[in-house]
Amino acid sequence: MNADGRTRLNQTPEWTALAKHREELADTHLRDLFAADPARGTGYTLRVGDLYIDYSKHLVTDETLRLLRELAAATDVFGLRDAMFCGEKINVTENRAVLHTALRAPRDAVIEVDGENVVPAVHAVLDRMSDFADRVRSGEWTGHTGKRIKNVINIGIGGSDLGPAMAYEVLRSFTDRALTVRFVSNVDGADLHEATRDLDPAETLFIIASKTFTTIETITNATSARQWLLAALGDEAAVAKHFVALSTNAEKVAEFGIDTANMFEFWDWVGGRYSYDSAIGLSLMIAIGPDRFREMLDGFRIVDDHFRTAPAEANVPLLLGLLGIWYGNFHDAQSHAVLPYSHYLSKFTAYLQQLDMESNGKSVARDGRPVEWQTGPVVWGTPGTNGQHAYYQLIHQGTKLIPADFIGFAEPVAELSEELKAQHDLLMANFFAQTQALAFGKTAEEVRAEGVPEELVAHKTFQGNRPTTTILARELTPSVLGQLIALYEHKVFVQGAVWNIDSFDQWGVELGKVLAKRVEPALTEGADVPGLDASTKALVAAYRELRGR
Ligand code: F6P
Repeated sequence: MNADGRTRLNQTPEWTALAKHREELADTHLRDLFAADPARGTGYTLRVGDLYIDYSKHLVTDETLRLLRELAAATDVFGLRDAMFCGEKINVTENRAVLHTALRAPRDAVIEVDGENVVPAVHAVLDRMSDFADRVRSGEWTGHTGKRIKNVINIGIGGSDLGPAMAYEVLRSFTDRALTVRFVSNVDGADLHEATRDLDPAETLFIIASKTFTTIETITNATSARQWLLAALGDEAAVAKHFVALSTNAEKVAEFGIDTANMFEFWDWVGGRYSYDSAIGLSLMIAIGPDRFREMLDGFRIVDDHFRTAPAEANVPLLLGLLGIWYGNFHDAQSHAVLPYSHYLSKFTAYLQQLDMESNGKSVARDGRPVEWQTGPVVWGTPGTNGQHAYYQLIHQGTKLIPADFIGFAEPVAELSEELKAQHDLLMANFFAQTQALAFGKTAEEVRAEGVPEELVAHKTFQGNRPTTTILARELTPSVLGQLIALYEHKVFVQGAVWNIDSFDQWGVELGKVLAKRVEPALTEGADVPGLDASTKALVAAYRELRGR
Protein backbone atom coordinates (compact mmCIF):
# COMPACT_ATOMS: atom_id res chain seq x y z
CA MET A 1 0.00 0.00 0.00
CA ASN A 2 1.21 3.56 -0.74
CA ALA A 3 1.39 6.14 2.02
CA ASP A 4 -1.49 7.89 0.21
CA GLY A 5 -3.68 4.82 0.65
CA ARG A 6 -3.33 3.64 -2.97
CA THR A 7 -2.30 0.09 -3.69
CA ARG A 8 1.29 0.02 -4.92
CA LEU A 9 1.36 -0.09 -8.71
CA ASN A 10 2.96 -3.51 -9.01
CA GLN A 11 0.47 -4.99 -6.57
CA THR A 12 -2.66 -3.87 -8.39
CA PRO A 13 -4.77 -6.55 -10.10
CA GLU A 14 -4.38 -4.60 -13.37
CA TRP A 15 -0.58 -4.94 -13.18
CA THR A 16 -0.79 -8.64 -12.38
CA ALA A 17 -3.20 -9.19 -15.27
CA LEU A 18 -0.77 -7.51 -17.66
CA ALA A 19 2.14 -9.62 -16.40
CA LYS A 20 0.10 -12.78 -16.97
CA HIS A 21 -1.03 -11.59 -20.40
CA ARG A 22 2.59 -10.90 -21.33
CA GLU A 23 3.43 -14.55 -20.62
CA GLU A 24 0.51 -15.70 -22.73
CA LEU A 25 1.76 -13.62 -25.65
CA ALA A 26 5.39 -14.71 -25.26
CA ASP A 27 5.37 -16.87 -28.40
CA THR A 28 3.20 -14.62 -30.53
CA HIS A 29 4.92 -13.01 -33.51
CA LEU A 30 3.77 -9.91 -35.34
CA ARG A 31 3.53 -12.17 -38.38
CA ASP A 32 0.83 -14.15 -36.52
CA LEU A 33 -1.05 -11.03 -35.49
CA PHE A 34 -1.16 -9.71 -39.05
CA ALA A 35 -2.12 -13.12 -40.42
CA ALA A 36 -4.97 -13.38 -37.94
CA ASP A 37 -6.36 -9.94 -38.73
CA PRO A 38 -6.08 -8.72 -42.32
CA ALA A 39 -7.56 -5.34 -41.29
CA ARG A 40 -4.87 -4.72 -38.66
CA GLY A 41 -2.91 -2.34 -40.90
CA THR A 42 -5.80 0.09 -41.03
CA GLY A 43 -7.58 -0.86 -37.82
CA TYR A 44 -4.67 -0.18 -35.51
CA THR A 45 -4.38 3.45 -36.52
CA LEU A 46 -5.51 6.76 -35.06
CA ARG A 47 -5.57 10.35 -36.21
CA VAL A 48 -5.01 13.52 -34.26
CA GLY A 49 -4.84 16.86 -36.03
CA ASP A 50 -2.60 16.36 -39.05
CA LEU A 51 -0.93 13.26 -37.62
CA TYR A 52 -1.64 9.74 -38.77
CA ILE A 53 -0.53 7.24 -36.15
CA ASP A 54 -0.01 3.59 -37.05
CA TYR A 55 0.45 1.31 -34.06
CA SER A 56 -0.26 -1.94 -35.88
CA LYS A 57 3.38 -3.03 -35.67
CA HIS A 58 3.24 -3.35 -31.90
CA LEU A 59 3.26 -6.56 -29.91
CA VAL A 60 -0.29 -5.98 -28.75
CA THR A 61 -3.76 -7.39 -29.24
CA ASP A 62 -7.14 -5.83 -28.43
CA GLU A 63 -6.85 -7.56 -25.07
CA THR A 64 -3.43 -6.00 -24.38
CA LEU A 65 -4.80 -2.56 -25.13
CA ARG A 66 -7.83 -3.16 -22.95
CA LEU A 67 -5.65 -4.27 -20.03
CA LEU A 68 -3.35 -1.27 -20.48
CA ARG A 69 -6.33 1.08 -20.45
CA GLU A 70 -7.52 -0.59 -17.26
CA LEU A 71 -4.13 0.15 -15.72
CA ALA A 72 -4.53 3.78 -16.75
CA ALA A 73 -7.99 3.87 -15.21
CA ALA A 74 -6.77 2.24 -11.99
CA THR A 75 -3.99 4.82 -11.69
CA ASP A 76 -6.41 7.66 -12.50
CA VAL A 77 -4.39 9.08 -15.38
CA PHE A 78 -7.35 11.13 -16.57
CA GLY A 79 -7.98 12.46 -13.05
CA LEU A 80 -4.41 13.77 -12.85
CA ARG A 81 -4.73 15.10 -16.43
CA ASP A 82 -7.80 17.12 -15.44
CA ALA A 83 -6.01 18.39 -12.34
CA MET A 84 -3.09 19.52 -14.54
CA PHE A 85 -5.30 21.35 -17.04
CA CYS A 86 -7.19 23.06 -14.17
CA GLY A 87 -4.03 24.44 -12.59
CA GLU A 88 -3.92 22.23 -9.50
CA LYS A 89 -0.49 21.96 -7.90
CA ILE A 90 0.35 18.51 -9.21
CA ASN A 91 4.11 19.16 -9.00
CA VAL A 92 4.02 18.04 -5.41
CA THR A 93 7.68 18.32 -4.48
CA GLU A 94 7.81 21.96 -5.57
CA ASN A 95 4.18 22.73 -4.73
CA ARG A 96 3.59 24.17 -8.19
CA ALA A 97 0.91 24.06 -10.83
CA VAL A 98 1.90 22.51 -14.17
CA LEU A 99 0.36 24.68 -16.81
CA HIS A 100 2.35 24.64 -20.02
CA THR A 101 -1.03 24.01 -21.66
CA ALA A 102 -2.06 27.55 -20.61
CA LEU A 103 0.73 28.90 -22.85
CA ARG A 104 -1.36 27.94 -25.88
CA ALA A 105 -4.81 28.51 -24.46
CA PRO A 106 -7.10 30.83 -26.45
CA ARG A 107 -7.34 34.44 -25.34
CA ASP A 108 -10.79 33.97 -23.79
CA ALA A 109 -9.89 30.86 -21.74
CA VAL A 110 -9.95 31.05 -17.96
CA ILE A 111 -7.32 29.02 -16.12
CA GLU A 112 -6.71 29.92 -12.51
CA VAL A 113 -3.69 29.52 -10.29
CA ASP A 114 -4.25 30.61 -6.69
CA GLY A 115 -7.52 32.24 -7.76
CA GLU A 116 -5.97 34.30 -10.56
CA ASN A 117 -6.67 33.78 -14.26
CA VAL A 118 -3.25 33.34 -15.89
CA VAL A 119 -4.41 33.55 -19.52
CA PRO A 120 -4.44 37.37 -19.89
CA ALA A 121 -0.79 37.52 -18.75
CA VAL A 122 0.14 34.77 -21.23
CA HIS A 123 -1.35 36.76 -24.10
CA ALA A 124 0.10 40.06 -22.87
CA VAL A 125 3.59 38.54 -23.07
CA LEU A 126 2.87 36.95 -26.44
CA ASP A 127 1.76 40.35 -27.74
CA ARG A 128 4.90 42.03 -26.41
CA MET A 129 7.04 39.30 -27.96
CA SER A 130 5.24 39.74 -31.29
CA ASP A 131 5.79 43.47 -31.22
CA PHE A 132 9.48 43.06 -30.40
CA ALA A 133 9.97 40.31 -33.00
CA ASP A 134 8.36 42.48 -35.67
CA ARG A 135 10.59 45.42 -34.75
CA VAL A 136 13.74 43.30 -35.00
CA ARG A 137 12.62 41.67 -38.25
CA SER A 138 11.68 44.97 -39.87
CA GLY A 139 14.89 46.70 -38.81
CA GLU A 140 13.04 49.21 -36.62
CA TRP A 141 14.87 47.90 -33.55
CA THR A 142 18.50 48.77 -34.19
CA GLY A 143 21.71 48.24 -32.30
CA HIS A 144 23.41 50.92 -30.22
CA THR A 145 25.20 52.44 -33.22
CA GLY A 146 22.02 52.48 -35.30
CA LYS A 147 22.97 49.42 -37.34
CA ARG A 148 20.29 46.91 -38.19
CA ILE A 149 20.24 43.69 -36.11
CA LYS A 150 21.36 40.85 -38.35
CA ASN A 151 22.38 38.29 -35.74
CA VAL A 152 20.40 36.84 -32.86
CA ILE A 153 22.15 34.69 -30.26
CA ASN A 154 20.12 32.83 -27.66
CA ILE A 155 22.14 32.06 -24.54
CA GLY A 156 20.50 29.45 -22.32
CA ILE A 157 20.82 25.80 -21.37
CA GLY A 158 18.52 22.80 -20.92
CA GLY A 159 14.94 23.88 -21.42
CA SER A 160 16.09 27.41 -22.15
CA ASP A 161 18.07 26.19 -25.16
CA LEU A 162 16.95 22.81 -26.47
CA GLY A 163 13.40 23.85 -27.36
CA PRO A 164 14.10 26.99 -29.39
CA ALA A 165 17.27 25.45 -30.88
CA MET A 166 15.34 22.36 -31.98
CA ALA A 167 12.34 24.30 -33.30
CA TYR A 168 14.57 26.75 -35.19
CA GLU A 169 16.15 23.77 -36.96
CA VAL A 170 12.79 22.13 -37.63
CA LEU A 171 11.29 25.30 -39.08
CA ARG A 172 14.42 26.55 -40.85
CA SER A 173 12.63 26.77 -44.17
CA PHE A 174 10.13 29.19 -42.59
CA THR A 175 12.83 31.47 -41.15
CA ASP A 176 14.00 34.85 -42.37
CA ARG A 177 17.17 33.76 -44.13
CA ALA A 178 18.68 37.23 -43.78
CA LEU A 179 18.99 36.68 -40.03
CA THR A 180 21.72 34.59 -38.46
CA VAL A 181 20.27 32.82 -35.44
CA ARG A 182 22.56 30.83 -33.14
CA PHE A 183 22.24 29.05 -29.82
CA VAL A 184 24.91 29.03 -27.14
CA SER A 185 24.50 26.69 -24.19
CA ASN A 186 27.82 25.12 -23.24
CA VAL A 187 29.95 26.82 -20.59
CA ASP A 188 32.92 25.64 -22.66
CA GLY A 189 34.09 29.00 -24.00
CA ALA A 190 34.39 27.42 -27.43
CA ASP A 191 30.64 27.55 -27.85
CA LEU A 192 30.39 31.34 -27.50
CA HIS A 193 33.62 31.79 -29.44
CA GLU A 194 32.31 29.88 -32.45
CA ALA A 195 28.95 31.63 -32.27
CA THR A 196 30.43 35.14 -32.25
CA ARG A 197 33.79 34.97 -34.04
CA ASP A 198 32.48 36.05 -37.44
CA LEU A 199 29.84 38.51 -36.22
CA ASP A 200 29.77 42.28 -35.86
CA PRO A 201 28.81 43.15 -32.25
CA ALA A 202 26.99 46.26 -33.50
CA GLU A 203 24.59 43.98 -35.43
CA THR A 204 24.14 41.33 -32.74
CA LEU A 205 21.29 40.86 -30.29
CA PHE A 206 21.74 38.54 -27.30
CA ILE A 207 18.72 36.86 -25.81
CA ILE A 208 19.53 35.61 -22.32
CA ALA A 209 17.11 32.80 -21.58
CA SER A 210 16.96 31.47 -18.05
CA LYS A 211 13.92 30.67 -15.99
CA THR A 212 15.79 31.18 -12.73
CA PHE A 213 18.46 33.57 -14.03
CA THR A 214 20.88 31.86 -11.66
CA THR A 215 22.12 29.04 -13.91
CA ILE A 216 25.89 29.35 -13.80
CA GLU A 217 26.53 28.28 -17.40
CA THR A 218 24.10 30.85 -18.75
CA ILE A 219 25.16 33.71 -16.50
CA THR A 220 28.84 33.01 -17.27
CA ASN A 221 28.21 33.01 -21.03
CA ALA A 222 26.00 36.09 -20.78
CA THR A 223 28.72 37.93 -18.85
CA SER A 224 31.30 37.01 -21.51
CA ALA A 225 28.90 38.08 -24.26
CA ARG A 226 28.50 41.46 -22.58
CA GLN A 227 32.29 41.85 -22.38
CA TRP A 228 32.55 40.97 -26.09
CA LEU A 229 29.95 43.58 -26.92
CA LEU A 230 31.40 46.30 -24.70
CA ALA A 231 34.95 45.66 -25.91
CA ALA A 232 33.72 46.65 -29.37
CA LEU A 233 31.14 49.32 -28.57
CA GLY A 234 32.76 50.72 -25.45
CA ASP A 235 29.59 52.10 -23.91
CA GLU A 236 27.54 50.51 -21.08
CA ALA A 237 24.43 52.06 -22.61
CA ALA A 238 24.79 49.60 -25.52
CA VAL A 239 23.59 46.75 -23.28
CA ALA A 240 20.01 48.06 -23.44
CA LYS A 241 19.91 47.71 -27.23
CA HIS A 242 21.77 44.40 -27.47
CA PHE A 243 20.52 42.36 -24.50
CA VAL A 244 17.05 41.11 -23.66
CA ALA A 245 16.10 38.58 -21.00
CA LEU A 246 13.57 35.75 -20.84
CA SER A 247 12.95 34.83 -17.24
CA THR A 248 10.67 34.42 -14.26
CA ASN A 249 13.13 36.33 -12.07
CA ALA A 250 12.98 40.12 -12.61
CA GLU A 251 15.21 40.81 -9.62
CA LYS A 252 18.11 38.73 -10.95
CA VAL A 253 17.65 40.13 -14.46
CA ALA A 254 18.00 43.68 -13.08
CA GLU A 255 20.99 42.59 -10.96
CA PHE A 256 22.69 41.31 -14.11
CA GLY A 257 22.25 44.73 -15.70
CA ILE A 258 19.44 44.12 -18.15
CA ASP A 259 16.64 46.68 -18.00
CA THR A 260 13.46 44.81 -16.98
CA ALA A 261 11.69 46.78 -19.73
CA ASN A 262 13.64 44.40 -22.00
CA MET A 263 12.51 41.31 -20.13
CA PHE A 264 9.88 38.88 -21.36
CA GLU A 265 8.28 37.09 -18.49
CA PHE A 266 7.06 33.59 -17.81
CA TRP A 267 5.97 31.89 -14.64
CA ASP A 268 6.92 29.23 -12.13
CA TRP A 269 4.10 27.00 -13.39
CA VAL A 270 6.01 26.53 -16.66
CA GLY A 271 8.66 23.83 -16.30
CA GLY A 272 11.95 24.56 -18.10
CA ARG A 273 11.57 21.58 -20.43
CA TYR A 274 7.99 22.60 -21.19
CA SER A 275 8.80 26.22 -21.88
CA TYR A 276 9.72 26.82 -25.50
CA ASP A 277 6.18 27.93 -26.35
CA SER A 278 6.52 30.64 -23.66
CA ALA A 279 8.79 33.71 -23.80
CA ILE A 280 11.64 31.18 -24.10
CA GLY A 281 10.64 30.91 -27.76
CA LEU A 282 11.50 34.54 -28.53
CA SER A 283 14.52 33.67 -30.71
CA LEU A 284 12.31 31.29 -32.68
CA MET A 285 9.61 33.93 -33.02
CA ILE A 286 12.12 36.43 -34.37
CA ALA A 287 13.30 33.82 -36.86
CA ILE A 288 9.90 32.63 -38.14
CA GLY A 289 7.73 35.64 -37.32
CA PRO A 290 4.81 35.98 -34.89
CA ASP A 291 2.19 34.51 -37.25
CA ARG A 292 4.08 31.26 -37.73
CA PHE A 293 4.73 31.12 -33.98
CA ARG A 294 1.00 31.39 -33.34
CA GLU A 295 0.33 28.66 -35.91
CA MET A 296 2.68 26.49 -33.89
CA LEU A 297 0.74 27.28 -30.69
CA ASP A 298 -2.47 26.32 -32.51
CA GLY A 299 -0.86 22.96 -33.28
CA PHE A 300 -0.04 22.41 -29.61
CA ARG A 301 -3.65 23.26 -28.75
CA ILE A 302 -5.08 20.71 -31.19
CA VAL A 303 -3.33 17.93 -29.30
CA ASP A 304 -4.09 19.47 -25.88
CA ASP A 305 -7.80 19.44 -26.73
CA HIS A 306 -7.55 15.90 -28.03
CA PHE A 307 -5.73 14.66 -24.92
CA ARG A 308 -8.28 16.42 -22.70
CA THR A 309 -11.39 15.13 -24.46
CA ALA A 310 -10.75 12.01 -26.57
CA PRO A 311 -12.00 8.75 -25.06
CA ALA A 312 -9.35 6.35 -23.84
CA GLU A 313 -9.67 4.07 -26.92
CA ALA A 314 -8.90 6.95 -29.30
CA ASN A 315 -6.56 8.99 -27.13
CA VAL A 316 -3.17 9.07 -28.86
CA PRO A 317 -0.94 10.35 -26.01
CA LEU A 318 -2.58 7.80 -23.71
CA LEU A 319 -1.92 5.03 -26.22
CA LEU A 320 1.71 5.99 -26.79
CA GLY A 321 2.33 6.31 -23.05
CA LEU A 322 0.80 2.91 -22.38
CA LEU A 323 2.75 1.23 -25.16
CA GLY A 324 5.94 2.51 -23.55
CA ILE A 325 4.81 1.03 -20.25
CA TRP A 326 4.04 -2.28 -21.93
CA TYR A 327 7.62 -2.56 -23.18
CA GLY A 328 9.45 -1.00 -20.22
CA ASN A 329 7.55 -2.75 -17.47
CA PHE A 330 6.47 -6.01 -19.06
CA HIS A 331 9.19 -6.70 -21.69
CA ASP A 332 12.08 -5.14 -19.77
CA ALA A 333 12.95 -2.75 -22.62
CA GLN A 334 15.49 -0.23 -21.40
CA SER A 335 15.39 2.35 -24.13
CA HIS A 336 13.19 4.02 -26.71
CA ALA A 337 14.43 5.25 -30.08
CA VAL A 338 12.94 8.24 -31.89
CA LEU A 339 13.94 8.15 -35.55
CA PRO A 340 12.78 11.06 -37.69
CA TYR A 341 13.01 10.78 -41.48
CA SER A 342 13.51 14.49 -41.91
CA HIS A 343 16.79 16.32 -41.89
CA TYR A 344 15.02 19.25 -40.25
CA LEU A 345 14.26 17.10 -37.21
CA SER A 346 17.96 16.56 -36.48
CA LYS A 347 17.66 18.06 -32.98
CA PHE A 348 14.23 16.62 -32.25
CA THR A 349 15.40 13.60 -30.28
CA ALA A 350 17.89 15.64 -28.25
CA TYR A 351 14.98 17.85 -27.24
CA LEU A 352 12.89 14.81 -26.33
CA GLN A 353 15.73 13.47 -24.20
CA GLN A 354 15.30 16.33 -21.76
CA LEU A 355 11.53 16.26 -21.99
CA ASP A 356 11.33 12.56 -21.22
CA MET A 357 14.44 11.74 -19.20
CA GLU A 358 14.40 14.81 -16.95
CA SER A 359 10.67 14.30 -16.40
CA ASN A 360 10.54 10.58 -15.78
CA GLY A 361 14.09 9.72 -14.70
CA LYS A 362 12.87 9.19 -11.13
CA SER A 363 13.07 6.33 -8.66
CA VAL A 364 10.91 7.66 -5.86
CA ALA A 365 7.11 7.64 -6.04
CA ARG A 366 4.97 10.66 -5.26
CA ASP A 367 4.48 9.33 -1.72
CA GLY A 368 8.25 9.39 -1.10
CA ARG A 369 8.84 5.64 -1.26
CA PRO A 370 11.20 3.98 -3.74
CA VAL A 371 9.47 2.65 -6.83
CA GLU A 372 9.59 -1.09 -7.43
CA TRP A 373 9.04 -0.79 -11.15
CA GLN A 374 10.97 0.66 -14.05
CA THR A 375 10.35 4.31 -14.86
CA GLY A 376 11.57 6.42 -17.78
CA PRO A 377 13.49 4.81 -20.64
CA VAL A 378 16.74 5.99 -22.19
CA VAL A 379 15.54 8.06 -25.16
CA TRP A 380 17.86 8.25 -28.12
CA GLY A 381 18.04 8.48 -31.88
CA THR A 382 19.07 10.61 -34.83
CA PRO A 383 17.57 11.10 -38.28
CA GLY A 384 16.74 7.65 -39.60
CA THR A 385 18.62 7.26 -42.85
CA ASN A 386 21.90 8.12 -41.18
CA GLY A 387 21.05 5.79 -38.32
CA GLN A 388 20.44 2.97 -40.79
CA HIS A 389 24.13 3.06 -41.67
CA ALA A 390 25.24 3.25 -38.07
CA TYR A 391 23.25 1.65 -35.26
CA TYR A 392 20.19 0.05 -36.88
CA GLN A 393 22.10 -3.23 -37.05
CA LEU A 394 21.67 -3.54 -33.28
CA ILE A 395 17.97 -2.72 -33.48
CA HIS A 396 17.46 -5.37 -36.16
CA GLN A 397 19.64 -8.19 -34.89
CA GLY A 398 20.99 -7.28 -31.46
CA THR A 399 19.88 -8.84 -28.19
CA LYS A 400 17.97 -5.82 -26.94
CA LEU A 401 14.35 -4.92 -27.52
CA ILE A 402 14.21 -1.30 -28.66
CA PRO A 403 10.76 0.07 -29.42
CA ALA A 404 11.02 2.95 -31.86
CA ASP A 405 8.99 5.85 -33.24
CA PHE A 406 9.38 6.54 -36.94
CA ILE A 407 8.35 10.07 -37.93
CA GLY A 408 7.99 11.00 -41.60
CA PHE A 409 6.28 13.39 -44.01
CA ALA A 410 4.55 12.84 -47.33
CA GLU A 411 5.82 16.11 -48.83
CA PRO A 412 9.34 17.47 -48.87
CA VAL A 413 9.57 21.07 -47.68
CA ALA A 414 8.34 23.55 -50.27
CA GLU A 415 11.64 25.42 -50.48
CA LEU A 416 13.59 22.53 -52.05
CA SER A 417 14.35 22.52 -55.77
CA GLU A 418 12.44 20.05 -57.95
CA GLU A 419 15.56 17.86 -58.26
CA LEU A 420 15.92 17.66 -54.49
CA LYS A 421 12.20 17.10 -53.99
CA ALA A 422 12.54 14.06 -56.25
CA GLN A 423 14.77 12.45 -53.61
CA HIS A 424 11.89 12.39 -51.16
CA ASP A 425 10.39 9.11 -52.36
CA LEU A 426 13.71 7.38 -51.80
CA LEU A 427 13.89 8.80 -48.29
CA MET A 428 10.39 7.57 -47.55
CA ALA A 429 10.95 4.20 -49.20
CA ASN A 430 13.62 3.69 -46.55
CA PHE A 431 11.19 4.86 -43.87
CA PHE A 432 8.56 2.27 -44.79
CA ALA A 433 11.07 -0.50 -45.51
CA GLN A 434 12.67 -0.23 -42.09
CA THR A 435 9.50 -0.66 -40.04
CA GLN A 436 8.52 -3.54 -42.29
CA ALA A 437 11.87 -5.27 -41.81
CA LEU A 438 11.80 -4.65 -38.07
CA ALA A 439 8.32 -6.09 -37.70
CA PHE A 440 8.41 -9.06 -40.03
CA GLY A 441 12.10 -9.85 -40.37
CA LYS A 442 13.20 -12.65 -42.65
CA THR A 443 12.81 -16.29 -41.73
CA ALA A 444 15.50 -18.94 -42.10
CA GLU A 445 13.34 -20.58 -44.79
CA GLU A 446 13.24 -17.35 -46.78
CA VAL A 447 17.00 -17.01 -46.45
CA ARG A 448 17.56 -20.63 -47.56
CA ALA A 449 15.23 -20.15 -50.51
CA GLU A 450 17.62 -17.45 -51.74
CA GLY A 451 20.35 -20.09 -51.94
CA VAL A 452 22.34 -18.79 -48.98
CA PRO A 453 24.87 -21.42 -47.79
CA GLU A 454 23.72 -23.15 -44.61
CA GLU A 455 26.56 -21.76 -42.48
CA LEU A 456 25.34 -18.21 -43.18
CA VAL A 457 21.63 -18.80 -42.76
CA ALA A 458 21.53 -17.90 -39.06
CA HIS A 459 23.55 -14.73 -39.69
CA LYS A 460 21.21 -13.60 -42.43
CA THR A 461 17.99 -14.44 -40.60
CA PHE A 462 16.07 -11.51 -39.14
CA GLN A 463 13.93 -12.43 -36.19
CA GLY A 464 11.63 -9.42 -36.67
CA ASN A 465 9.04 -8.74 -33.98
CA ARG A 466 10.67 -5.36 -33.26
CA PRO A 467 7.87 -2.93 -32.39
CA THR A 468 7.50 0.50 -33.97
CA THR A 469 5.03 3.35 -34.09
CA THR A 470 4.78 5.21 -37.39
CA ILE A 471 3.83 8.89 -37.23
CA LEU A 472 3.07 10.34 -40.63
CA ALA A 473 1.98 13.84 -41.61
CA ARG A 474 1.51 15.51 -44.95
CA GLU A 475 4.13 18.20 -44.40
CA LEU A 476 6.31 19.71 -41.74
CA THR A 477 4.65 22.98 -40.73
CA PRO A 478 4.75 25.07 -37.55
CA SER A 479 1.39 23.59 -36.55
CA VAL A 480 2.59 20.03 -37.10
CA LEU A 481 5.65 20.73 -34.96
CA GLY A 482 3.37 21.99 -32.17
CA GLN A 483 1.24 18.87 -32.53
CA LEU A 484 4.26 16.57 -32.31
CA ILE A 485 5.68 18.28 -29.23
CA ALA A 486 2.34 18.29 -27.40
CA LEU A 487 1.95 14.62 -28.27
CA TYR A 488 5.24 13.76 -26.59
CA GLU A 489 4.60 16.09 -23.64
CA HIS A 490 1.36 14.29 -22.89
CA LYS A 491 2.83 10.86 -23.53
CA VAL A 492 5.47 11.60 -20.89
CA PHE A 493 2.70 12.83 -18.60
CA VAL A 494 0.72 9.60 -18.98
CA GLN A 495 3.73 7.49 -18.07
CA GLY A 496 4.59 9.59 -15.02
CA ALA A 497 0.98 9.36 -13.87
CA VAL A 498 0.92 5.56 -14.14
CA TRP A 499 4.30 5.23 -12.43
CA ASN A 500 3.08 7.60 -9.71
CA ILE A 501 6.16 9.80 -9.94
CA ASP A 502 6.47 13.59 -10.05
CA SER A 503 7.31 14.26 -13.71
CA PHE A 504 7.79 17.96 -13.10
CA ASP A 505 10.70 18.28 -10.70
CA GLN A 506 14.39 17.58 -11.43
CA TRP A 507 16.18 17.29 -8.10
CA GLY A 508 18.69 14.89 -9.64
CA VAL A 509 20.34 17.75 -11.50
CA GLU A 510 21.06 19.70 -8.33
CA LEU A 511 23.86 17.67 -6.74
CA GLY A 512 26.17 18.05 -9.76
CA LYS A 513 25.60 21.81 -9.74
CA VAL A 514 26.45 22.12 -6.05
CA LEU A 515 29.57 19.95 -6.38
CA ALA A 516 30.81 21.87 -9.43
CA LYS A 517 30.70 25.09 -7.41
CA ARG A 518 32.59 23.39 -4.59
CA VAL A 519 35.28 21.89 -6.85
CA GLU A 520 36.02 25.03 -8.88
CA PRO A 521 38.35 26.70 -6.30
CA ALA A 522 40.38 23.49 -6.19
CA LEU A 523 40.99 23.84 -9.94
CA THR A 524 41.64 27.56 -10.03
CA GLU A 525 43.46 28.20 -6.76
CA GLY A 526 44.51 24.72 -5.67
CA ALA A 527 42.29 25.26 -2.64
CA ASP A 528 42.00 22.34 -0.27
CA VAL A 529 38.32 21.56 -0.69
CA PRO A 530 37.03 19.62 2.31
CA GLY A 531 35.22 16.38 1.56
CA LEU A 532 36.83 15.70 -1.83
CA ASP A 533 37.09 11.95 -2.35
CA ALA A 534 40.48 10.39 -3.17
CA SER A 535 39.72 9.83 -6.86
CA THR A 536 38.51 13.36 -7.49
CA LYS A 537 41.43 14.80 -5.50
CA ALA A 538 43.93 12.89 -7.69
CA LEU A 539 42.11 13.95 -10.88
CA VAL A 540 42.16 17.59 -9.81
CA ALA A 541 45.89 17.34 -9.10
CA ALA A 542 46.50 15.77 -12.54
CA TYR A 543 44.44 18.50 -14.20
CA ARG A 544 46.38 21.26 -12.44
CA GLU A 545 49.67 19.67 -13.41
CA LEU A 546 48.56 19.40 -17.06
CA ARG A 547 47.60 23.08 -16.97
CA GLY A 548 51.00 23.93 -15.53
CA ARG A 549 49.60 25.21 -12.25
O1 F6P B 1 19.16 21.06 -16.04
C1 F6P B 1 18.40 21.50 -14.98
C2 F6P B 1 17.62 22.68 -15.33
O2 F6P B 1 17.05 23.12 -14.17
C3 F6P B 1 16.55 22.38 -16.39
O3 F6P B 1 15.41 21.83 -15.87
C4 F6P B 1 16.37 23.72 -16.98
O4 F6P B 1 15.70 23.64 -18.21
C5 F6P B 1 17.79 24.19 -17.09
O5 F6P B 1 18.40 23.72 -15.90
C6 F6P B 1 17.99 25.67 -17.25
O6 F6P B 1 17.46 26.38 -16.19
P1 F6P B 1 17.22 27.94 -16.30
O7 F6P B 1 16.23 28.18 -17.39
O8 F6P B 1 16.70 28.36 -14.95
O9 F6P B 1 18.53 28.61 -16.62
